[in-house]
Amino acid sequence: ELTVDTRAKGTKVSPDLYGVFYEDINHAADGGLYAELVQNRSFEFNATDESSYTGLTAWSKVERGATAALTVTGEQPLNAANRNYLRLDVTGDGTAGAANAGFNRGLPLRKGARYDLSLWARRAQAATLTVTVEDGGTVLGRATLRVRAGGWARYRASFTASGGTDAGRLVVRAPAGRTDLDMVSLFPRDTFKGHGMRTDLAKMIAELEPRFLRFPGGCVTNVGTYEPYSANQDRRRIYQWKETIGPVEERPANANFWGYNQSYGIGFFEYFQFAEDIGAKALPVLSVGVNGCGENRPLTDEAKLARWVQDTLDLIEFANGPVTSVWGGKRAELGHPKPFGLEYIGLGNEEIYPEFFANYPKFADAIRARYPKVKIISNSGQTSQGAWFDRMWQFARDQKADLVDEHYYNNTDWFLSNTRRYDSYDREGPQVFVGEYASRGNTFFNALSEAAYMTGLERNSDVVRLASYAPLLANVDYVDWTPDLIWFDNDQAYGSPSYHVQRLFATNAGERVVPSTFEGEVRPVDDISGGVGLGAWNTAVRYDDVKVTAADGTVLLSEDFSAGAAGWTPGPGTWAVRDGGYEQSAQIEDARSTAGEAGWSDYTMEVTARKTAGAEG
Ligand code: AHR
Repeated sequence: ELTVDTRAKGTKVSPDLYGVFYEDINHAADGGLYAELVQNRSFEFNATDESSYTGLTAWSKVERGATAALTVTGEQPLNAANRNYLRLDVTGDGTAGAANAGFNRGLPLRKGARYDLSLWARRAQAATLTVTVEDGGTVLGRATLRVRAGGWARYRASFTASGGTDAGRLVVRAPAGRTDLDMVSLFPRDTFKGHGMRTDLAKMIAELEPRFLRFPGGCVTNVGTYEPYSANQDRRRIYQWKETIGPVEERPANANFWGYNQSYGIGFFEYFQFAEDIGAKALPVLSVGVNGCGENRPLTDEAKLARWVQDTLDLIEFANGPVTSVWGGKRAELGHPKPFGLEYIGLGNEEIYPEFFANYPKFADAIRARYPKVKIISNSGQTSQGAWFDRMWQFARDQKADLVDEHYYNNTDWFLSNTRRYDSYDREGPQVFVGEYASRGNTFFNALSEAAYMTGLERNSDVVRLASYAPLLANVDYVDWTPDLIWFDNDQAYGSPSYHVQRLFATNAGERVVPSTFEGEVRPVDDISGGVGLGAWNTAVRYDDVKVTAADGTVLLSEDFSAGAAGWTPGPGTWAVRDGGYEQSAQIEDARSTAGEAGWSDYTMEVTARKTAGAEG
């Protein structure tokens, strides 16, 4: 019997409770949400980004009649931020050129859809370039560009696809002579609200009705060197928002923390605009001059740190300042005179180092002095970071942060047994932003455990003001991290079970949570994540043991994992049926130290149980 006290005042649900955490991980931006179809469009890929990369990654030569030589060079580049380009030397009669393979396993084209092509070229003599999208020998889209003799210039054309493919390639052909090419770009005309985001992915995110968009990521925001872009400098620069705005050909590419090249085609202006387009509040996260995510290279030079503090203030001006201000004016120049109305700013992401305590106040104090209404979010790192988690929390309290960003990735059991986590949180101190959380797996059962957990977030939303699952996007061919909310390839996307839970909750958030009580038998929730055939066996999967019992009560198997390795708690099992259903195997995918300090390790275990006489099944 469920009793609901509808007259009670209950807890008012935070109007911003459910949002999304966008990180450029798993190729979420290039080859993902950013609708650009050409990979390595500016020939900036480099072994620093990823060891197998070269300036010609995704490019190959195309010869028919004439021959082509492709070289990536930096002699008189397009501009100082875009220092490499393709030098195409064609000899002989006819044409030859370069082909781009796109992302994933090819470049997609939709029959009847319109595509916009743009490239920068330089030639000593005028010539006509032919650009096609081909699948095998079939041309599905074609455009010609008349290149003038002289220096770098941009050329554009459009075409309608005569057929569809998900495995095409873009080919640029030139007649004899030398042609320099850069920023070779192909976009579908149809992007979300015309702002350059891939429509299907953007729509799926919008359909979550997120109240906020945390960006540009976690580890993406705070690992790398602090120097601004310069021609001779290490490419692994920490994320610097000012490098990501303005004409795309003037944004320097960078090595992404997750091991690939990031073009910054989606930059801070686009993030703000996207947040607005999906009805979410923009929630940027910036570094406070301390690295996180396993690296500690703090910025201690006061003068350099002052620039970072100023950049943070400038970001708020960029978002909220009037058009008459320097950075508000920049925003207007980029096409958005109206302020974006920034309310929250995140300072740091999992920087469990003492330098965080030294640097954070410089940023927080400057923001408070200049923009007292902006809510400042400090962070606590991951719950698994043990004592550091508590230290970071205490620091946030002392600093009177408005909110604290908590992160955790745990097994289903943790989520099911922690639905009351926030019942006892202090109502006087900083409020909570659960900025990253996920049950470790993408099964229905993971989603169910998250749903159970989210009832606790909602019930406590006087203290838990914001919550976002993490990560949001994963390209199936470039996976850095699982589980993820939305999976996609170059032309399809689907939501994981967790996606549907997020959507269900966010689109049905109530105004108040009133008290309720339940009377009746409380049964444990069994792990049904891979439960094919388990119905015939009375199985119980616990986190310290796996037990398989036949219908007659015979214990076929009982394994106590904690016995062998005290302090280690295996994660949920993945069950599979083999040999006509009589053999089952349970694989423990992850183990996590309950002590919190030792980090992650692989823990694999296989259990086999055979059907015995008398067992059903
Ligand atoms: O969500 C993936 C990563 O997990 C984030 O980049 C980081 O903040 C956390 O460790």
